[in-house]
Amino acid sequence: MKRSFLFLICSLLSLPIFAQMLPSTLGVLAEEGHSNPILPSEIAIIPEPVSITKNEGHFMLPENVTIHASDAEALKQVITFLQDRFSVPTGSYVSVVADAAKTATIRLILNERVNAALGTEGYELSVTNTHVEIRANQAAGIFYGAQSLIQLFPKEIESKELIEEVVWKAPCVQVMDYPRVGWRGLMFDVARHFFTKEEVKQYIDAMVRYKYNILHLHLADDEGWRIEIKGLPKLTEVGAWSVKKVGEFGNFIPPTADEPRTYGGFYTQEDIKELVQYAKDRFVNILPEIDVPGHSLAIIASYPELSCTPGAENYRVRSGERIMDWSRGAPPIALVDNTLCPANEKVYTFLDTVITQIAALFPFEYIHMGGDEAPINFWEKNDQIKALMQREGLKNMHQVQGYFEKRVEKIVASKGKKFMGWDEILDGDMPSSAAMMVWRDTKYGIQATSKKHEVVMSPTAYAYLDYMQADVITEPKVYASLRLKKSYEFDPIPAGIDPKYVKGGQANLWTEQVYNIRQAEYMTWPRGMAIAESVWSPKEKKNWENFFGRVEQHFKRLDIAETKYAPSVYDPIFKASRAADRQLMIEMSTEVEGLDIYYSFDNSFPDRFYPKYTEKLTPPKDATMLKVITYRGKQPVGRMLNMPIEELNKRAGKR
Ligand code: ACM
Repeated sequence: MKRSFLFLICSLLSLPIFAQMLPSTLGVLAEEGHSNPILPSEIAIIPEPVSITKNEGHFMLPENVTIHASDAEALKQVITFLQDRFSVPTGSYVSVVADAAKTATIRLILNERVNAALGTEGYELSVTNTHVEIRANQAAGIFYGAQSLIQLFPKEIESKELIEEVVWKAPCVQVMDYPRVGWRGLMFDVARHFFTKEEVKQYIDAMVRYKYNILHLHLADDEGWRIEIKGLPKLTEVGAWSVKKVGEFGNFIPPTADEPRTYGGFYTQEDIKELVQYAKDRFVNILPEIDVPGHSLAIIASYPELSCTPGAENYRVRSGERIMDWSRGAPPIALVDNTLCPANEKVYTFLDTVITQIAALFPFEYIHMGGDEAPINFWEKNDQIKALMQREGLKNMHQVQGYFEKRVEKIVASKGKKFMGWDEILDGDMPSSAAMMVWRDTKYGIQATSKKHEVVMSPTAYAYLDYMQADVITEPKVYASLRLKKSYEFDPIPAGIDPKYVKGGQANLWTEQVYNIRQAEYMTWPRGMAIAESVWSPKEKKNWENFFGRVEQHFKRLDIAETKYAPSVYDPIFKASRAADRQLMIEMSTEVEGLDIYYSFDNSFPDRFYPKYTEKLTPPKDATMLKVITYRGKQPVGRMLNMPIEELNKRAGKR
């Protein structure tokens, strides 16, 4: 019975449509029927390719692998990448051959006649039982084809050490693939917490698996200035250092004058050149961001004369203490003035020096100049600002910031670069040459494109990787939650926007609560996979169930690669409400199909022999804690969660 069913499934798999639609479901069947020689779950590429056809048979990696490239110079990065990835875990000898176009094991071919369907980053990948061929118009496409190829091999291919006793084979497939949008970014905030050059490289290594092509480095904020600027030494002598604190960032006890300011760091210009080259070798551009005029406390602590506010010479780089009052929403009320002074000519001279050097260091065509969350309460009472408003005919603080942004835009343009800012700059009547990174809401993207601004979409609702991935009881506390399933709904070209101006999309990892690279990875994956698929794969091919089946395969790959990821997707969602008699009612659900939730109210640790959740619960009168864990069949998959009954009572509202 099972065998004939599997035969039917295997036959269906040779049809492209089934090969694309069913791997997660079929993966379960295949695992049950171990003897099946074609394991459908072998194919779990993220992001999902445009088209993939499964053919009969496998390609077996030989002990001597030969790579032939039609243009070895243009493809040298891809060759190095493949040599490294195939030789380390498998122990195969991987050599490059100049004259074996028809016999090499892996053939990399740059199209002589451009295949228009593939564009600049698309590729065709053919895996047969004798060899592998990747064709593309440009080297980037060959690199992405190589990423897909790696994902066809067993998960152990991710190992950084030799692994014995693995059959190094890949299913025979034909893939044709290209991205939905050209800007596929991840933002890494290296200002709130500093991450070393090696850690940034580690982050790049992880992102290229999923065909990201832009690393946006947030290089300056209240908590640190992270890049050497010649002629402005205090930026890195003073601006890069704070007092080390751990706990819940944002409400730390303000540091005293005698606490050592030794926490932080910066990249020298040589470090930046090395990072730019490292990224380029992996087909990633680095977008530098200097966030002004708000978020500038590290600059002001270094050069207080750039502030409008008397007493700024006493300001220090923020160590996570409270400096803003958000109780009335945006813009926040600043408790210390973290803004550069738009009325001070020295500010523009300073920015000219910074932008000149940034423009020379980063070859990418855009420079991001921030512009978000600039408080106005200090400006409102400042005589220099009042004089500026009178002189320039500025009517309100939006126009004051607009004046500043327009001057900065001119500086950026004078260095031959394109200006980009967060979506608040829309309020400043910017010229359409200013590109916008949309974060607050999709509606700002719609407004921006209607005014002919280029946009990159990174709305908080889908793309903020600093948000918690599950209930606040399980994650370091931040402002909001963003579960994997919601990230997967991200559409970089939402309804109502003019697609002509959409450059693409990205996810943003702010690091106020991220103290180390392992946590940066935890916050990025798997939501980074969801965003990667949203910006690469055709919209109509997105399918949550199918995607999550592949994510689970990638969890195993990341385990071997020793890249951290969050298992939060397996944790239940809690909903607390009140019955007519005001009794607390607890509802639980899961993001993922097919999980069972087991629980206890007696403080002991539930397992699958405990009560299984099937309907709303009312806690026993004296219970203080609900403990829950999720299982798939006999396997625990979720974490043991402790939910205080008091917390649920709070969420349910008045008793
Ligand atoms: C932002 O998240 N303040 C751009």
